[in-house]
Amino acid sequence: MIKTDIVIIGSGIAALSVANTLCKNGRKVTILTKSLKTSSNSNLAQGGISVALSENDNFNMHYDDTLEAGCYFNNSESVMTLVSNAPEIIMDFINSGMRFDTDEKGNLLFGKEGAHHINRIIHAGGDRTGQMVMKELFSQLNENVTINENEMVLELRVKNNECGGVVTRDEDGNINRYEANYTILATGGIGQLYPCTSNDITITGDGLAMAYRAGLELSALEFVQFHPTMLNINGKTMGLVSEAVRGDGGILVNQDGVRIMEGVHKLKDLAPRDVVSRAVYDRYLSGESIYLDISNIYGFSERFPYVSEICERNGVDLSKNLIPVRPGAHFHMGGIKAKPTGETSVDGLYAIGEAACTGVHGANRLASNSLLEGLVFGKLTADNIMSSERIAPSFEFEEADAEIDRLPSKNEIQKKMMKFIGIVRYRNKIPEIIKWFESFIPAGVDKPFGRVNLEKTTNQQMEIYNMITTGYLIAKAAFERSESLGAHYIIDKE
Ligand code: SIN
Repeated sequence: MIKTDIVIIGSGIAALSVANTLCKNGRKVTILTKSLKTSSNSNLAQGGISVALSENDNFNMHYDDTLEAGCYFNNSESVMTLVSNAPEIIMDFINSGMRFDTDEKGNLLFGKEGAHHINRIIHAGGDRTGQMVMKELFSQLNENVTINENEMVLELRVKNNECGGVVTRDEDGNINRYEANYTILATGGIGQLYPCTSNDITITGDGLAMAYRAGLELSALEFVQFHPTMLNINGKTMGLVSEAVRGDGGILVNQDGVRIMEGVHKLKDLAPRDVVSRAVYDRYLSGESIYLDISNIYGFSERFPYVSEICERNGVDLSKNLIPVRPGAHFHMGGIKAKPTGETSVDGLYAIGEAACTGVHGANRLASNSLLEGLVFGKLTADNIMSSERIAPSFEFEEADAEIDRLPSKNEIQKKMMKFIGIVRYRNKIPEIIKWFESFIPAGVDKPFGRVNLEKTTNQQMEIYNMITTGYLIAKAAFERSESLGAHYIIDKE
């Protein structure tokens, strides 16, 4: 048994935010990540951080926009906690060395994105915000933090509603058992359940599946956000084209130059993401080609160096001012039920970032609220841990005997998810995918997709098992909600 104080699963912005505060206060932290430490959605994030720091703004306005985009399905207390703490936490981050983009006088520049009624988004390195923020956060970690790459957490050691750590497999194939006073899930979302996604290859719903196996409360799983503008090369998505492009004047058009958001929503191209994604998808399905017309944007390559790079890499000639786009899975509003201070329904187990559902995003996340969530709720979780005292309960964790019998391929899961639980869902068809998932439930598990024997399950099998577990749970939640709301768009009959 490896004894530690704090284990964090994942290495994105929420993980590093909590680790930073803890390590600066002398706490020992072990970060476990199944791939490289830089493999995270945070590292890929282009769009920035929304924060009420401009002269004309205040956090009540940020609050209103977050609720409106979230279809008022949000937990209003969580939203208020996020937006009211944001200005101070971001200023502290800046004072600790983070450089966001400024004008020549050193004043922060504020950009615009969908459903914000005011320019409120700060960026770093143009559209390389995530990468720059992560670089800064990594540089601020101290000797109290150990990062184990290529060590996959397979199971949470939970008994009688108490968490005592995790079970992992390291890069040499050893099964390790950690005893931790505090265990923090920061595993990100579920984007790889879909064929087109902005998410990193590692984002397969592992945290959610483990939490489910351990009996944690989950919430709002049916709400999956699709980003309207992924770079579309011959039907394949090759990266994100930031919403900030539309914020700076980019316009969605079809192959004939017709504006597709005209008459769809009063905010047109900057309507909430669910609305724009459905409009693009409708056109796409009816055989139209959709482009972002960037002719209004002066100095595009300087303002959007990363988008320019992926366009060039994929043969898109930017001098023609048209970037081919289609929607892709982007963000999971649902997740492990948690408070903004990280507590879940199990003692000693915390969830933060996209893996968590604090209700802050409602039925549809407001643009650039996710990096913010990672930073703010990461900090609040660290403060919470530091103000509590907990010793890991010492217990024998009985591992399961059930063995995985057969599994689908990743590709099959992705195709089914897009068909049945995609941007539009036909309610009468959802039982078909639930049944399909159920056909993979191993014999002898304590509940559908319950715990299996870890020694006999490879990491690759566990990842697929996590994907079908998560897909199954999302499908069940989608079936339960018979009315459309935000990103959950239901059509009763085909
Ligand atoms: C983007 O750059 O469009 C993504 C921003 C976000 O998801 O909040």
